Amino acid sequence: MTPFGIRKKLKGLVGRGGGRTDIVRYDITFVLPDGTEQTVQAEERYTLAMASQFLPAPIATGCPDGQCGGCVVDVLDDRGLAPASDSERKVFEKWHKHYDGSRRLACHARITGPGAKVRVRELFDYDSIRGTD
Ligand code: FES
Repeated sequence: MTPFGIRKKLKGLVGRGGGRTDIVRYDITFVLPDGTEQTVQAEERYTLAMASQFLPAPIATGCPDGQCGGCVVDVLDDRGLAPASDSERKVFEKWHKHYDGSRRLACHARITGPGAKVRVRELFDYDSIRGTD
């Protein structure tokens, strides 16, 4: 690789000039706990939890490794969501019994196209870590 090739690759990695042009983004609609809807654009292969970073607050998650089952969302339209992986099903069934596709784990469910719509049960509560003093 030439020095110019290296420079271009580094710029692409840090997101300045010569960046990736092959990133695909899709609209994802979240119905928030207060009943309002918000549509965000998220990159293909993002999880719903990752996509929720564009909401006023992200989906409440309970673990860093996808094992707690605490990030359940209700699926209103599963277009654009990859089928549940074996690991998602295993974690889901450990905490929530039977998996039928009507609910998914936000930190597992990946976006593969447009049209997904999910109801968020709980957003991350920033006040819980800020304290009230
Ligand atoms: S945050 Fe723990 S399983 Fe999703």
